Amino acid sequence: MGILDEDVRRVREATDLVELAREHVALRKVGRRWSGLCPFHNEKSPSFTINPEMGAYYCFGCQARGDAISFIREVEHLDFVGAVERLAANAGIQLRYDDANFSKERQRRQRLHEAVAAAIAFYHERLLTGDDGGLARRYLRSRGFDGDAARQFQLGYSPDGWDVVARHLQAQKFSREDLSDANLAFTNRANKMQDVFRGRLMFPIWDARGDAVGFGARTLSGEDGPKYKNTAETPIYRKSSLLYGLNWAKGEIVARGNVVICEGYTDVMAFHLAGVPQAVATCGTALADDHFVLLKNLARNITLAYDADAAGQAAAERCYTWEQRFEVQFQVADLPTGRDPGELWPAERDLISKSVEAVTPFLQFRLDRLLASSDTTTIEARARAANAAVEMIAAHPSDFVRDEYVMRAASALRLENVQRLRDEVDKVRKGGSASLGARRTANPNHAGEEQQRPYDRREIDALRWVVQAPHLVGQHVDLSVFSDPRLREAFELLFTSDSFDDAVARGDDRTVALLQRLAVEDTSVGSDKAEEVAKRVIVNAIEASSLRLLQSMLRASDIRSVEVKQLLDALVRERDLSNWDLAVPLADELVAWLASSETGVEPSDGPSGGTE
Ligand code: UTP
Ligand code: MN
Repeated sequence: MGILDEDVRRVREATDLVELAREHVALRKVGRRWSGLCPFHNEKSPSFTINPEMGAYYCFGCQARGDAISFIREVEHLDFVGAVERLAANAGIQLRYDDANFSKERQRRQRLHEAVAAAIAFYHERLLTGDDGGLARRYLRSRGFDGDAARQFQLGYSPDGWDVVARHLQAQKFSREDLSDANLAFTNRANKMQDVFRGRLMFPIWDARGDAVGFGARTLSGEDGPKYKNTAETPIYRKSSLLYGLNWAKGEIVARGNVVICEGYTDVMAFHLAGVPQAVATCGTALADDHFVLLKNLARNITLAYDADAAGQAAAERCYTWEQRFEVQFQVADLPTGRDPGELWPAERDLISKSVEAVTPFLQFRLDRLLASSDTTTIEARARAANAAVEMIAAHPSDFVRDEYVMRAASALRLENVQRLRDEVDKVRKGGSASLGARRTANPNHAGEEQQRPYDRREIDALRWVVQAPHLVGQHVDLSVFSDPRLREAFELLFTSDSFDDAVARGDDRTVALLQRLAVEDTSVGSDKAEEVAKRVIVNAIEASSLRLLQSMLRASDIRSVEVKQLLDALVRERDLSNWDLAVPLADELVAWLASSETGVEPSDGPSGGTE
C-alpha cells in the first residue's frame, strides 16, 4: 500500500513524537511523560499524554491515541502516505514505494506543484521588474501595498499576451500536459497553448503544507469578466479545502489558539501587515465544512472578519452545527459596517488590528441582529421574537452570560417580566440538555475503547508494565495471570508481536486502544525504584489470579489445592515483608499452576515450569 513497510518503520523510529507534537500542543513534562491540552478535543485540564520512549500518545479525555504518523495525519489532515512523507521529509529519509501507479500519482502532483511554483516566480519577477508591470505596481501602491508587501506575498503580474507564460514554462521543460493540468494554460482551438491568466494582478496560493497550488487573479482594467479569476479545480487545487494564507498563518494560529477568517486576498494581506498574522481567507468560495476540517485541530477559537452583513450570512445557520461538529467557537470581529480590512489598509491600520481584539461573541452578534430586525409592534410578533431569543440564549453554557442576554432581550422587546424569560430559557435548557451536553461527543475515530466493566486494578497494573517494561516483568507474567478476556486479548497480541508497533498494526481497534492507553499511563518505569515496583506489580497480580485458582480448586474439591494454598500463603507473607526476591520465585511457581490449570497439564518439578 504505497510506501514500503520498512521505510514507514524507519520514519517512525526517526521521529521524535514529543518534538513533533510540540508544534501543535504546549507540553509539560510530568515524570517521564509529557502532557498537555488535547489537540483533538476541547478541554481545560490536560489529559493528552505522550510516552516518549514508546512514541505513543493517548488522551484520557477523548481516547485519541496513536503514534507520530497518526498524530500528524489527524492534526494536519493528511492521508497515511502524506503523513509519512511529511515526517520523512523532516527526518531526511528517502522513501521507496511498492506501487508504481501510486508513486506515479505522487510524482504527478509534485510536478504540478513545481509548475505552479515556476509560474509564481515568473509572474513575480514580471511584477517587480517588467516594463508591462507598471500598471499593476501602480495599482498596488494606490492600495498601500509597497514592494516589500509584494515580495512578502509573492504577488505577480500576468502579461497580457496569448502564451507568454506557456512559452516560458515549456522552455523550462514543463510539458503541455503539465500546464493544462495545473490550469496555467489550455489548448485553444488552433491547438496552441494559451495562458489562463492575462493582464492580471496575481495572488499566488499555497496549501497548508506550503506547496504552490494556484492563483487568485484580480483584474486591473475592470473590463474583462469577473473581478477575480481563480485557478479552476485541479489535482492540487481544491478550493473547498484551501485557505489563502494558511501556509504563513499556521504557526500563529496554533500559538494563539485563534484564527481570523476574512473574505479576500487583500484582506489577508492587510491583516498580516497590520500585525494580525493569524488571518486566512477562503479562495473564492463560501465557508464550508471542509474549511473547518482543515482548521479544527489548529485552533478552536474562530474570528469572522467579514463586514457585518456578510458575517451573519457566512455562519449564521451553520454556526452551531460547526461549533458542535468541530468543537470550535465563533466570534465576530468589530469592523466598520460595509468596509473590509483590505479597504481599511493602510490609512486605518489600527482599526484593522483592533477589530480582532474587540470581538463580539457570536451569540451577542446574532442576538443583536435578531433583536434589531424583529418587529416589536404587535404582541404576537414580540412573542415570536422572544421565543427565538430564548432558543438562542439557552444554547450558551454560562449562567452568567445567559442572564446578561436575557436582560438585553427583555429590554429590547419591552418585556416587563424578565423572570418569565429566564424561566423559559431554563425550560429550554432542561428539555434540550441532551443536545447541549453532546458538545463534547468524542470523535468517532477515537471511540475505540469502550469501558463496560472496570478492570481488576492488579491485572491492569501488570499489563501496563508488560507494555512499558517487558524486560522487567515479561518473564514472570503469563497469559493465565489475566482473567479479563479483554486484557488477555491484549496480552496475547503483545506476545505474538515483534514489537509494540507491530502489535498496534495488527490488533483490533479496541485492543489497540487499550494498549496505547497503557503505554502512556504513569508508571515508575525508569525511576531507581523501577525494579522493586515491577516485582510488587507482578506479585500482586499473581496473588489475585492464584486466589481465584485456589477458590475454584476448593470448589472442585481438588486435593492439590493444598499445594497452591501453601505457595499462596508464603507469597503473601513475603510480600507483606517486602521480601521481593523471595516473593517473585513463589509467584513464578504459582504462574506454573495457573498455566497448568488452563492447559490441564500439571506443573512438573520446580518453579516457572510452563512460563516460557
Ligand atoms: P471582494 O469583491 O470583496 O474582493 O471579494 P476583495 O478581496 O475586497 O478584493 P479587492 O480588495 O477589491 O481587490 C472577496 C473575495 O471573493 C472572491 C475572491 O477570493 C475575493 O478575494 N471573488 C470575488 C471571486 O472569487 N471572484 C470575484 O469575481 C470576486
Ligand atoms: Mn472586499
